[in-house]
Amino acid sequence: MRKLAAGNWKMNGTGDNLSMISQLAAAHPSPKSEILICPPTPLIHRAATISDSITIGAQDCHAASKGAHTGDTSVIMLADAGATYVITGHSERRADHKETNKNVHAKATAILKNGLKPIICMGESLEQREGGNTLEVISNQLAHSTPDMAAGHTTVIAYEPIWAIGTGKIPTLTQIGEVHDFIRHQLQTRFGTAQGGAFRILYGGSVKPTNAAEIFAIPNVDGALVGGASLTVADFSPIITALDAA
Ligand code: PGA
Repeated sequence: MRKLAAGNWKMNGTGDNLSMISQLAAAHPSPKSEILICPPTPLIHRAATISDSITIGAQDCHAASKGAHTGDTSVIMLADAGATYVITGHSERRADHKETNKNVHAKATAILKNGLKPIICMGESLEQREGGNTLEVISNQLAHSTPDMAAGHTTVIAYEPIWAIGTGKIPTLTQIGEVHDFIRHQLQTRFGTAQGGAFRILYGGSVKPTNAAEIFAIPNVDGALVGGASLTVADFSPIITALDAA
């Protein structure tokens, strides 16, 4: 399995920031890991023309292919712009736009049907963590957000504890390992040992150059979904190097 270093720029960046992608490509001419940048939608088309070695993705999509949905973007449009991955079910979208597992399932289905790869995000709140409900929450989100047509080579799962996103706090390495092992087991139970074993499971939430190596050493951590630290080469490049070395 090729590991995945995915950068989620969120609502950050204009055309001026695209030079970061060429700098990143120059710093990693033949990366062992796959490098993905998910810039804001207006930058996808330009970002996709910069380098063959950096894959470009989107941060969200609409589940329908076209129609009266002002302001939304379909998977066909994202593919046309040059995206090959689409993040779906990020906790910021679940919170800000009241997205449910059902919405995420519909979006992931649309992404797969159009030949793109969903990165399906899930994670517990601090209250759920402290209440001892983490695995139950993950089990529920995984089961109901992931379509039956998902497969290891087409679909990526991202475990992102909500309380670790943008906060500088991360779970203990044992806690990360516990959730990743759990997700792997659930995937293998549902899709079979080989198929379930082929899904990449990313960790996300305050991944930095200083903690990347220890996170990537955890079994069943197949890469990272990185927010803040994906915005500069100085931060993202050492994370890619750590993943290549893991
Ligand atoms: P962060 O964000 O790395 O800034 O914590 C991760 C994410 O939300 O994907």
